Formats: sequence, C-alpha cells, structure tokens
Amino acid sequence: GPARLLVVGSINADLVVRVPAHPRPGETVLGGDLAVHPGGKGANQAVAAARLGADVALAGRVGDDDHGRMLLATLRREGVRTEAMRTFPGSSGVALITVDDAGENTITVAPGANARFAPTDVTDLAPAIEAAAVVSLQLEIPLDTVRAVIERCEAAHTRVVLNPSPAVSRDVLTSGTLLRACDPLVLNEHEATTIAGDGDAREALKLLRALDPSPRSIVLTLGSAGALIAEADAEPVHIAAPPVTAVDTTGAGDAFTGALAWRLAAGDALPAATRYAVRAGAAAVRRAGAQSSYPTPDELP
Ligand code: RIB
Ligand code: NA
Repeated sequence: GPARLLVVGSINADLVVRVPAHPRPGETVLGGDLAVHPGGKGANQAVAAARLGADVALAGRVGDDDHGRMLLATLRREGVRTEAMRTFPGSSGVALITVDDAGENTITVAPGANARFAPTDVTDLAPAIEAAAVVSLQLEIPLDTVRAVIERCEAAHTRVVLNPSPAVSRDVLTSGTLLRACDPLVLNEHEATTIAGDGDAREALKLLRALDPSPRSIVLTLGSAGALIAEADAEPVHIAAPPVTAVDTTGAGDAFTGALAWRLAAGDALPAATRYAVRAGAAAVRRAGAQSSYPTPDELP
C-alpha cells in the first residue's frame, strides 16, 4: 500500500568543508578536506523518519548526473520509497556548506532539478497524498508547488507539516493558502524572527498565532533549549532537550521535523511527537553531516 508519511521536497548533494571560522564577505579561509554527503531538506526528513522505522516516501526531483544517481541509491539503501522520484536532464541540487569549530553551518543551495518540480506535477501525486496520514514539506522546491500540494492535502483531509525553510518573509508566508492547513508549522528561531521582522522567538510565536489565517498549531524549535508547542488557544508548552555536545548542527532541524511528522503519522498526539522529535534532533547534532548523523531508535538520547 501507499506510504503513511509522504515527504514532498528537495534533495541535494551536500559539498561540505570544515573551517576554523566562517569567511566574512570578501574573505578567503582555508578549510579541511571536501566531503560529499546526501542532503536536501526533503530527503533529510525522509531519511530521518526511515531510520526511526517509518513507512515513508519522498517525492522529489534529481538530475541525470552522478549526484542524482548517488542520491537515489542512498534513498533506496535507507528504505525510503522512491516511486514518486523523477529524474530530469541536467544537474541535481547542490548545497555548498561550511561548518565551523562550534558546529554551526552556513549553506548556499543551487536548486538544480529541485526547481523543476512544477505545480502541475502535483496531479500525479494526488493518490499518494490522499492515502498518506501526513504530508511533510519545506521550501526548497517552488513555492507554487508547495501551495498546490497543501491544497490537495486540504481537499483530501491529509495532515500537513510545513517547515518554512529556507526562511521567508511574513508576506510570502501569509500569501495564498500556505499557512492555514499547517498542523503544525515547524520553525526555528531564525525562521520565526525572519517572519516577525524583529524581536525574540517568543514574540514571533505570538505574532504567528495572531495571523489570520494562522496555522492550526506551531512548533518552535529552540536548539539546545528544546521546543515550544502552541496548540489552539492554549498557553505554549515547553519541551526540554537532552544535553548533548554539538559537533555539527547541519540537518538537525530536518531530523526533528522528519521524526515529528513520522510520529504524527503513526498516531501520536503533538506533545508526544514533539518529545520524540527533540530527542532525534539532539542525536543528530552529535555527529558530522546531516543524514550520516541521524539516529536509529536505540541511539536516541
Ligand atoms: O537543512 C540542511 C540541508 O539544507 C542540507 O542537507 C542542504 O542540502 C540544505 O538543503
Ligand atoms: Na549532524
């Protein structure tokens, strides 16, 4: 049968260099050896869920290049279903990533084939969307495609999880039908304050809840401080994170969201799913890379 969790989103080859400190504009720094890892926020979510035992499919686009072949092979090896993947002539998505000694990253993405995921392609996905318990999305494929998927989910009463990453302005987020179906909208402090304009993450959370239409629920991730859950009109609930030593935070948010979406698809309520996701996100910062750092259930802190 069809997958319980359908991730619709990006897949990239991550070209990663460790640096002592990030270069400032105009500056050159010497880093370590180049590492090539499978990545992309969509693929990362799907692999995170699969490692944790999920029945998960990824709908995405690769190029007919070496990266594309590597990325598809990785998905299959990880047990992510690939029947909704398509290959296009040209380049796969590539992310240029630097990671500093504190484990913090900067990422520049060349979307490649991800940019060719067209809104009209969503018609083909309709049966998978209807059959899934949860559809999880990010913003590394065209925004109109994300909207088209969300509209299908609304029509099919399929739960939507959206991570608005890379960060977008409030105008982009509130335009059209992006927000109202999100249950939850999952975002980090940077994404939240980008939407709010300024102020701290808790103020941004208040603003997001006051939008019209507003998401059905919101999960604000706080890094080492865990996460805040805002449901209906209730006071936000704080979930603490287990203490871990950060080696590389790349893709930790994707591990969190993939785990959360999977637990929701499996029937957990939002607080239980968030408690599980916080542990998956914490595990992911302890090792280098994105997917390479994702935990199996016995590795959860
Ligand atoms: O969130 C981390 C991911 O962002 C990386 O894997 C990179 O591909 C970019 O999409
Ligand atoms: Na990591």
